[in-house]
Amino acid sequence: MMRTHHCGELRPEHVGQTVTVAGWCHSSRDHGGVIFLDLRDRSGLAQIVFNPEDQADAHQVASAVHSEWVLKIDGLVRRRPEGTENPNLATGEIEVVAAAIEVLNEAKTPPFGIADTQDVKEEVRLQHRYLDLRRKRMRDLLELRHRVVKSARDYFDREGFWEVETPMLWKSTPEGAREFVVPSRVYPGRGFVLPQSPQLCKQLLMVAGVEKYVQIARCFRDEDQRADRQPEFTQIDVEMSFVEQDDILATLEEMFKTVMKECLGVDIPTPFPRLGYSEAMARFGADKPDMRFGMELVDVGDVVQDSGFRVFADTLAKGGQVKAICAKGCGEYSRKQVDDLTALARQFGAKGLATWALGESEIKSQVAKFLTQEQMAEIFRRTGATTGDLVLAVADTPAVVADALGHIRLHLGKELDLIPEGLWDFHWVVDFPLFGWNETEKRYDPMHHPFCMPQPEDLALLKEGYDTKEEPGSPDHPWSKVRASLYDLVLRGYEIAGGSIRTHRRDIQQDVFGAIGLDLEDAKGRFGFLLEAFEYGAPPHGGIAVGLDRVLAILGNCENIREVIAFPKTASVTCPLTGAPTPMDEATLKELHLVSVAPEVDEDQAQ
Ligand code: AMO
Ligand code: AMP
Repeated sequence: MMRTHHCGELRPEHVGQTVTVAGWCHSSRDHGGVIFLDLRDRSGLAQIVFNPEDQADAHQVASAVHSEWVLKIDGLVRRRPEGTENPNLATGEIEVVAAAIEVLNEAKTPPFGIADTQDVKEEVRLQHRYLDLRRKRMRDLLELRHRVVKSARDYFDREGFWEVETPMLWKSTPEGAREFVVPSRVYPGRGFVLPQSPQLCKQLLMVAGVEKYVQIARCFRDEDQRADRQPEFTQIDVEMSFVEQDDILATLEEMFKTVMKECLGVDIPTPFPRLGYSEAMARFGADKPDMRFGMELVDVGDVVQDSGFRVFADTLAKGGQVKAICAKGCGEYSRKQVDDLTALARQFGAKGLATWALGESEIKSQVAKFLTQEQMAEIFRRTGATTGDLVLAVADTPAVVADALGHIRLHLGKELDLIPEGLWDFHWVVDFPLFGWNETEKRYDPMHHPFCMPQPEDLALLKEGYDTKEEPGSPDHPWSKVRASLYDLVLRGYEIAGGSIRTHRRDIQQDVFGAIGLDLEDAKGRFGFLLEAFEYGAPPHGGIAVGLDRVLAILGNCENIREVIAFPKTASVTCPLTGAPTPMDEATLKELHLVSVAPEVDEDQAQ
């Protein structure tokens, strides 16, 4: 072995021992001839002392060492002189008096300091990710990732799950997002796609009798990037046979309890609260509500129904809603602040934002003249508003009201500092509708994917939908009302997992396909292999997939999931480290039977 100890593990109990350590020069300073060098390896830092008199040779070499040079050092561990201990460092009570030093490798001056904690432009960090990952914060996140995956894997192993790898070269099976395509060299004009998730494979594994499957699975989705999305990300993917929804939720609750305890030392209570989809939408205006604070949406439709404000009355007459929230202590908001909130509401489709500022002597509102004192008093009572507060209301379709007020709520929650730190609001959102109405295409789409099981008590509605007089898409159409055995796990306003009980019966599956306008022939073309498999004795089954990167970003307090991925893509889906995606040369295109219609780009210009 090249070394006897890791830097970060040295403690007072090693005092008097001769050790060999190796690592990178984190920093060094010369104090009147004595050189203090912080040597860093993965485990942490140790202070090495070079004395000009006692170890002249070593001292001379050390004086020429720069940051990030790779060194091997022999020395004697001693207690730091009194008053020079560093309580911020795990090794702060000791130091190593160097006897010999070997330069294992020199290093160029890095483009940013590894020891610095200040922000460096992300593009530069990603371009030199191997240096970025040397920094303490990133090293800690890498370790967290390892610990969480290990803890989850061990948990599933104890519970009798088998880890099965599923293919990366897969068949195009629309699941929602656009797919990454891998053209076939052997079969001209054909291709594989990279899986959006192992969804169909894990269902086939249930038909195969695996019963309890888990995989730390890489997924690929060519969709618009956001802070919580990457084109390539990781799921903790789970599927189980002979189970009901409660079994799956309980399994995941235990997994999170174990992971939170083992990796963060945090006890989280189980079972997690469950919220119906409609309740979540009604109270928080979101299907992934941040439950760490209140400021709930309140329906005031019945109060303003007979008011003279046409916008309210007309909206309600058309089946819309009027809802309000109360921003505590914002009664003195300036015109500009209120305008900004209105702009935010408009961004989410609202046509306006009605406000009431409750001052000491008067109520400031553009709509006060349309409402009676009693009506306003009732709105304030319901929203809990008192003097000094600001009440905000939106009138529109339920979807727009939820979206606009839901986002204003989140915005104000942050702005007003309403979100307590360190709160773990794990909760389930359940009872999602099976279908969502696609207004553009005028058809029902699966809310999640077409293999979700309708809730048993709603199976009749699925049938009724075939001979109803109700308008498709209307709230009264039976298909608008079918609920699915579909569940999401939400933490701090992020959907961190989602899954469902699957349809294992052919007749129900056919009815679902019919409702989403997919005839059996179409369905066979797309996922015939699954439908056929289901004819050979598919057990009742269901599962869930955890968005590992999202979980880690929350656990690690990161703004963006790129922070918890060793080599992520940028927001514009590039890799600054390698320069990918790179142009495909003529020979490659030819071999893959492809013709590029992309305009010629001068590579030097493009860089
Ligand atoms: P779903 O599409 O909901 O379900 O994905 C499961 C979880 O994966 C995470 N996630 C993402 N994370 C990072 N970047 C992305 N682009 C991204 N997309 C999704 C989310 C999400 O909750 N096969 C089903 C699961 C099942 O039914 O068992 C599926 O993939 O946290
Ligand atoms: P108007 O009569 O359009 O000038 O609107 C009067 C006030 O009502 C303005 O402050 C608008 O922002 C607000 N308002 C207009 N439409 C809506 C709506 N759909 N929901 C809530 N407030 C609205």
